[in-house]
Amino acid sequence: MKQFISAHDVQDIPALIRKALDYKANPWKDETLGKHKRIGCLFLNPSMRTRLSTQVAAQQLGMETVIFNVGNEGWSLEFEEGAIMNGTTVEHVKDAAPIMGNYFDILAIRTFPGLKDREADYGEHIIKQFIKYAGIPVLSLESATLHPLQSLTDLITITESWQATNNTSAKPKVVLTWAPHVKALPQCVANSFAQWVNAWGDADFVITHPKGYELSEEFTQGATIEYDQENALKDADFVYVKNWSAYSSYGTMPAFEGDWMLTNEKIGQTCNAKLMHCLPVRRNIELSDEILDGPNSIITQEASNRVWAAQAVISSLLQ
Ligand code: CP
Repeated sequence: MKQFISAHDVQDIPALIRKALDYKANPWKDETLGKHKRIGCLFLNPSMRTRLSTQVAAQQLGMETVIFNVGNEGWSLEFEEGAIMNGTTVEHVKDAAPIMGNYFDILAIRTFPGLKDREADYGEHIIKQFIKYAGIPVLSLESATLHPLQSLTDLITITESWQATNNTSAKPKVVLTWAPHVKALPQCVANSFAQWVNAWGDADFVITHPKGYELSEEFTQGATIEYDQENALKDADFVYVKNWSAYSSYGTMPAFEGDWMLTNEKIGQTCNAKLMHCLPVRRNIELSDEILDGPNSIITQEASNRVWAAQAVISSLLQ
């Protein structure tokens, strides 16, 4: 693997899931693979799980990690080619990235979208500029439109939970449901989940959301879109809950009808579905306490699996 910014960078998704579950069973099996190697983690935006799990994963491979909170502690970076830098940006990515390429063996980057200019965000300009100028493998820690480490984690979690139910002959029904939120959030997690589940192909996949919250077809193609949440939830084995802002009227929060927050009553329509969320979650806005603290929630298992996803990917980039 040369880079990890989307599902398209992975030749064999089931093999990567198996590799991650192998690390879960034996975390230190490759403890010298990354000896004398360094991963630089650049955070242009905040993180808890991604930052910590990437560090743990790299350490289990014998790598050194260097964290740089560029957003808070670094120079303001310029990404436009030919920019006349007479404004607030201090350093061009074409000067900064090659230096990082010399310091590190892998460059990991988190950069959120601005949610103002859809073309700019969906062009993935920032992470592409790092790929262009760093000269080393780039690992996405969540970019403007995708969150591949989260999605790989989600497939790992679905796989191990499904295997534990002894239902291994049939595909699980997986439902991605929109949930309310107090502010406009990126589409990254939902886009990425849709891209990975479709590329994986081992699920009956349904996406449900209010009208106006359609995701880009680039990612959803292959899934069933169902505007009626109750219909979508029927017989679900896994329900993935996530808010996102609108793609069409980009970055806005169109008004919607009905109550989209999950309740135990709605879960009663499912096949005793496991509940997933990438976290952080706004309790009693996106998801109720009764669901999050209830027996069907696998959010802690899911977040814990971030380590094994990161370890499988870093290991593949090193190899
Ligand atoms: N799910 C996720 O990416 O968590 P963080 O934002 O805390 O890294």
